[in-house]
Amino acid sequence: MTDSVVEVEGLWKTFGSVSAVEDLSFSIERGQVYGLLGPNGAGKTTTLRVLMGLERPTRGSTRLFGTTVTPSSPELFRVGALVEQAAFVPHLSGMRNLRLWWEAAGHHMRDADLDGALAIAGLGDAVNRKVKTYSQGMKQRLGFARLLLGQPELLVLDEPTNGLDPGEIREIRELIGRLTSQGATVLLSSHHLSEVEQVCSHALVMNHGRLITSGTVSELVGTTRSIYVEVNDKQRALAVLSGLAVVARVQVQGDGLVMELVDGQRSDVAAAIVSAGLQLETIMPTQRLEDAFLDLLAAGNAAQPQLHGTSPANSIGAN
Ligand SMILES: Nc1ncnc2c1ncn2[C@@H]1O[C@H](COP(=O)(O)OP(=O)(O)O)[C@@H](O)[C@H]1O
Ligand SMILES: [Mg+2]
Repeated sequence: MTDSVVEVEGLWKTFGSVSAVEDLSFSIERGQVYGLLGPNGAGKTTTLRVLMGLERPTRGSTRLFGTTVTPSSPELFRVGALVEQAAFVPHLSGMRNLRLWWEAAGHHMRDADLDGALAIAGLGDAVNRKVKTYSQGMKQRLGFARLLLGQPELLVLDEPTNGLDPGEIREIRELIGRLTSQGATVLLSSHHLSEVEQVCSHALVMNHGRLITSGTVSELVGTTRSIYVEVNDKQRALAVLSGLAVVARVQVQGDGLVMELVDGQRSDVAAAIVSAGLQLETIMPTQRLEDAFLDLLAAGNAAQPQLHGTSPANSIGAN
């Protein structure tokens, strides 16, 4: 038998004439932190909903712990999912909400890992305050505490930082870090590239319902070596850098220039700029997975010219 926690094989999901997922396959092994990365409308939520038994596949199959899932599958008890917005009773405390939810599912509080869940959620004393006084980020952390009560073997998180402000995003990222350092297997979706780069061990990039690429995050990051420079004269630098053999696709972007390194070092670029008499103000790698992601989406779109819509670049980092 396989040790895969999640297996998706040739999954298709259509809604009327809309095809949300097309021929998607991937698998997740125990202990992996797997990112489903794609712009809005890529098919991430649909994939997670099918996986959780909330939607039936149009074609293909999904398995959790080696078993095909239906809405009543016992395997679902081994999964903690934040796929819909977590709802709470606003005039009750966080703690009362946790108890109510757990007991409503027919469990005894003594069987819940309350201490462990609260330690990871990091709500502190706020857990005794009414939920209506919570920020969006605190509600999200209470949502995590709730799904951790049953010590799930797999966590499925749909855009866990969506709608949060930067401070809250950092807190949720730290929370996920606490989880993964304890060896949890996690599947999370995001259109936030830096999030996947920082949190995940593996990632799958999808667009228009289709897989574009997958692999370890370090493999994906290795697909491009893009750098950003700022100089005192962009146009002259453009001319100088365009003539360098180690540089490809150099272009002006904002206050500086971005380019791909073909077979050279950042120092080669720095040396060429300086020896042309230009003043070098900044030279650094650009956001690496972001570049890989954009390149891959561009390549995926080129392969499917019949598909169009808003530019994927516009939806990335939209929130
Ligand atoms: N219940 C539904 N009925 C009709 N179309 C849907 C439904 N759910 C999703 N879609 C469509 O499927 C596509 C993928 O959506 P979704 O899985 O939500 O993408 P993502 O989560 O990556 O933003 C979109 O075009 C969306 O409009
Ligand atoms: Mg979604």
